[in-house]
Amino acid sequence: MNILSIESSCDETAVAVIKADEKSESFAILSNVVSSQVKIHAKWGGVVPNLAAREHLKNFVPVLDEALEEAGLKLEEIDLVAVTQGPGLIPALLLGTNAAKSLAHLIKKPSIGIHHIEGHICSNFIEKKDGKYFGQLDKFEFPILALVISGGHTQLVLMKDFFDYQIIGETQDDAVGEAFDKVAKILGLGYPGGPIVSKMAEVERKAEYNLKNPLSPPSKKGEGNRNFPSIKFPRPMLNSGNLDFSFSGLKTAVLYYWQDVSKRIKDEKELEEHKKLVCHEFENAVSEVFCKKSFKAIEEYQPKTFLLAGGVAANKKLRTDLEAVAEGEGVKFSCPMIEFCGDNATMIGVAAFSRYLRLKKEGNLDSLKSEWKDLEAMAQMELR
Ligand code: KG4
Ligand code: ZN
Repeated sequence: MNILSIESSCDETAVAVIKADEKSESFAILSNVVSSQVKIHAKWGGVVPNLAAREHLKNFVPVLDEALEEAGLKLEEIDLVAVTQGPGLIPALLLGTNAAKSLAHLIKKPSIGIHHIEGHICSNFIEKKDGKYFGQLDKFEFPILALVISGGHTQLVLMKDFFDYQIIGETQDDAVGEAFDKVAKILGLGYPGGPIVSKMAEVERKAEYNLKNPLSPPSKKGEGNRNFPSIKFPRPMLNSGNLDFSFSGLKTAVLYYWQDVSKRIKDEKELEEHKKLVCHEFENAVSEVFCKKSFKAIEEYQPKTFLLAGGVAANKKLRTDLEAVAEGEGVKFSCPMIEFCGDNATMIGVAAFSRYLRLKKEGNLDSLKSEWKDLEAMAQMELR
């Protein structure tokens, strides 16, 4: 069966087509088109919902055409239309869901609404060989522990099976992606912040140099600044005893530190160098928290698989550090290929394929319609 999938929950207009084989529960990706609005929103330092909707409206048809053309299929050859129905920005979600329902109605085929985070988790099923993308739904052994880290979510999700989700820990305030973006904003590094902060941190990790600490008081002997004793940001909720997270305090610590430092360092070049230290220490703090909580969750719930999902899963340090945690615990580790970490429609198609198979097995395909949420529920949709 051919599944056409749509993602429009935030600032990417994305359409993909997968060819799914029901018998072997495998799929091949025929096309995966993503049109990013990042440059448009960068001016505002974040995603502006109505602007996102305007861009989806403009880009959807060209993206759809490109996805079908690349797949070598006509719209009539599509068997199922899938779309992200939440959570996300309402004006943006409306564009995608309305398009999906209209297309399905036009070709008299079913449509299915997918939870955005279920999509992110499913991006782990995508593999690549000889330049071709494909996947298999029985790739992982359950129970699966998923660390979902994106611009809107930070959750530890236990999956005993497909569609059996238990949120065992989550952020009490900001999502980790939001914190990355905010730190970039504080340091004047642009938007979106994650990739820039992560690059700066990496440079610092590699450089291994000691910057003079402008904050340390001159010694009694009047030697001036001593070697920088490294910045220390808080590790929020590290020892909270549960699996929850918090990032707003860390974000504020970076803000106060930077306000102080920028008053003291007058040399522009030195200030630029200092940004790398801040990014490095911020990333260390985030990684330490994720490693400790993931370790605790693995010990407590004994999953067979530990995987990362969401835009922040593209972060190199987190990928390396969390893989080491899984390895230490003897658990299979997975993170999505970099190109499928951010928002894309293929992940929605894969999630739709597994949902469709379950409903078919249950003889319950009619319920596809009743799975649709109403408008209010879409923005804050729960994973279940
Ligand atoms: O999953 P996603 O594309 O959108 C949401 O569903 O929220 O995640 C976007 C988030 C942004 O906050 C972005 O800064 C962050 O993912 N991000 C990263 C990296 N690449 C993207 N954060 C840290 N390191 C990265 N390499
Ligand atoms: Zn996302």
